[in-house]
Amino acid sequence: MQHAIALAWQGEGNVEPNPMVGCVLAQGDVMIGQGYHESFGGPHAEINAIKNATRPVAGGTAYVTLEPCSHVGKTGPCADALIEAKVGRVVIGCIDPNPEVSGRGIAKLTEAGIQVDVGVESDAAANLLAPFGKRITVGLPWVIAKWAMTIDGKIATMHGDSQWITNQHSREIVQGLRGRVDGIMVGFSTADADDPLLTARGKKLRTPTRIVVDSQARLRLDSKLTTTTDQAPVILVTSPSHDQQHAAKLAAKGVEIWVGESADPNQRLHEFLRDFAGRGHTNLMVEGGGTLMGSLAKMNQVDEAHVFVGPKMLGGRNSITPVEGENPLLMAASKLFSLRYVRRIDDDVYMQYRRIVNAQSGGQ
Ligand SMILES: NC(=O)c1ccc[n+]([C@@H]2O[C@H](COP(=O)([O-])OP(=O)(O)OC[C@H]3O[C@@H](n4cnc5c(N)ncnc54)[C@H](OP(=O)(O)O)[C@@H]3O)[C@@H](O)[C@H]2O)c1
Repeated sequence: MQHAIALAWQGEGNVEPNPMVGCVLAQGDVMIGQGYHESFGGPHAEINAIKNATRPVAGGTAYVTLEPCSHVGKTGPCADALIEAKVGRVVIGCIDPNPEVSGRGIAKLTEAGIQVDVGVESDAAANLLAPFGKRITVGLPWVIAKWAMTIDGKIATMHGDSQWITNQHSREIVQGLRGRVDGIMVGFSTADADDPLLTARGKKLRTPTRIVVDSQARLRLDSKLTTTTDQAPVILVTSPSHDQQHAAKLAAKGVEIWVGESADPNQRLHEFLRDFAGRGHTNLMVEGGGTLMGSLAKMNQVDEAHVFVGPKMLGGRNSITPVEGENPLLMAASKLFSLRYVRRIDDDVYMQYRRIVNAQSGGQ
């Protein structure tokens, strides 16, 4: 199952809005086939594993990270393929989070007389599935907060200078991350201060939509975002009371003007997240600044944090920090994360954290 999970991760960025899935076929202790869901619309993991098998599969065991599907989607049902291949046992990491199909694949397999065991390496399998599961069950995208900070935890000076905190190599890694997500979001102040392009350069699995949260629709007409709508879509998330004349000019340049109904900025942001997931988008990377990140943290909508630390000390109470917002009084109010990955990049450090939901104590 651990190998099946490692295989599944290889589909990251290429299979969404489908889930990442891996499959290993074995006869006793010998692996005889392996496969993963490689691309959206392409064959599922089980089909690839059966196709790649080097020995007869009949009577063997299939280790699958996710419950095999029982319905006809872009491809035929994987449960049927395993039944036809006459496997003797199916070991499953996680059941399908989609309430409409959950349990049906397992039922089909057991009805065909196949032994089914569920919950092997279930935490790792659930981790793999979390972004897909959030979209399917909650109707919201998986939010990845990304920032670069100094060793004393600042992302910009008080006047907004932030270029650069980390080295070239770290910034290239960010380019790679952008090429795997469906959207990249920034707050108006970041769009205004940095004039970022926010496109994915280098190896690109998908073209993320660029999103600016800008209640008044003040994004400059000559900004890099406004002038490159032919390269990747741009959405401006704004309020009912925005500057309509300016918004019309932005729209004429190809910017989609998304007007939320609520007068409350966070409520509006929530409305937008729901709409974004409804468009079939799974992963949203938020690249700051601190004010927008503070809102998302308050809304409990930071699922992952990708933190780059550059070897600089800036100082200053008024320098901008990665997550602004309200000032909690007690540590118990902090959100809890677990460290998933850490890497040294010359003198920079890159860390990935994942939010721990429903932690029993010590935080929210
Ligand atoms: N080092 C890094 O990784 C990094 C990354 C990004 C940014 N930065 C730096 O951070 C600075 C900007 O950060 P910032 O904290 O001042 O601003 P920000 O988060 O980029 O933008 C905040 C603005 O977004 C708009 N907004 C609309 N809806 C919002 C909502 N629900 N929640 C929060 N904001 C909402 C608000 O303006 P309206 O009311 O007008 O809509 C708000 O003032 C820049 O100097 C940039 O260089 C650094």
